[in-house]
Amino acid sequence: MKLDFSGQVAVVTGGASGIGEACAQVLAAAGARVVVADRNLAAAQAVAAATGGIAVALDVGDDASVDAAVAAVEAQCGVPQVLVNSAGVLQRTLPPEELTLREWDFVARIDLRGTYLCCARFGAAMARAGGGAIVNIASVAGMGSGPLHSYGPAKAGVINLTECLAAEWGSKGVRVNAVSPGFTHTPALEKGITTRTLAADDMAGNSALGRLIQPREIAHAVAFLASTQASAITGINLPVDAGCLVATPWASYGGLRQAG
Ligand SMILES: NC(=O)c1ccc[n+]([C@@H]2O[C@H](COP(=O)([O-])OP(=O)(O)OC[C@H]3O[C@@H](n4cnc5c(N)ncnc54)[C@H](O)[C@@H]3O)[C@@H](O)[C@H]2O)c1
Repeated sequence: MKLDFSGQVAVVTGGASGIGEACAQVLAAAGARVVVADRNLAAAQAVAAATGGIAVALDVGDDASVDAAVAAVEAQCGVPQVLVNSAGVLQRTLPPEELTLREWDFVARIDLRGTYLCCARFGAAMARAGGGAIVNIASVAGMGSGPLHSYGPAKAGVINLTECLAAEWGSKGVRVNAVSPGFTHTPALEKGITTRTLAADDMAGNSALGRLIQPREIAHAVAFLASTQASAITGINLPVDAGCLVATPWASYGGLRQAG
């Protein structure tokens, strides 16, 4: 069955780039009026123009900015039915001896606190209005260990937060789910590849499907969870990882078998 978001307002934080931009495109194509909420207002305006939506300035690390964005959305579109929390920053793969607490705090503030704050403010309005669907973008990095000592715990926190809020608001008709992407070819990942902090071959080679993920592949899972077709699904974390989680343990046995 085709997804149908007609008559619904969908707020996408971090909607100006990468996974958030793909979510805005997929939700708009399925009939939603999309609010592209991002720290980069010019880029958000460009995505909004392309998707027939509106752009709102939002810094999820700033409480006043979140409150202003919530007020702006309500004034222009009413209470949204869908919230996708994709605003986030990646982290450099540094050992604790080199990772400053300033960088640790910055990543955790945006990725965990920022996600919580948007859930709390938009979700409370959804609960008052009688329902809605929230999808948080977590990460496979939050489901196991890696050299990301702020990002990993922050994303693990997003997964737990998703469960907590799903239980909190289930009786109010608000569903809360998470999608955990594997390595997804977005501008943020591309920056890591061009600066040689990340290697495309390693990331692709350590997945069952042997490739990176395209942002649209994440967006389709997000749209499903936000749609009425997922009306009985809440509190889950859906990995969309090209088989990264199942492939990683094979490293202890010499790695995946080579094709051919
Ligand atoms: N790319 C990947 O491989 C990957 C994997 C797992 C999870 N994720 C998660 O997906 C989400 C999107 O990442 P992406 O790869 O598309 O990155 P991206 O840099 O392409 O897009 C992120 C967007 O978030 C916005 N943003 C950043 N900080 C913000 C803030 N404080 N307030 C509002 N907007 C802010 C940026 O301006 C940008 O438009 C992030 O939460 C990231 O952690 C990405």
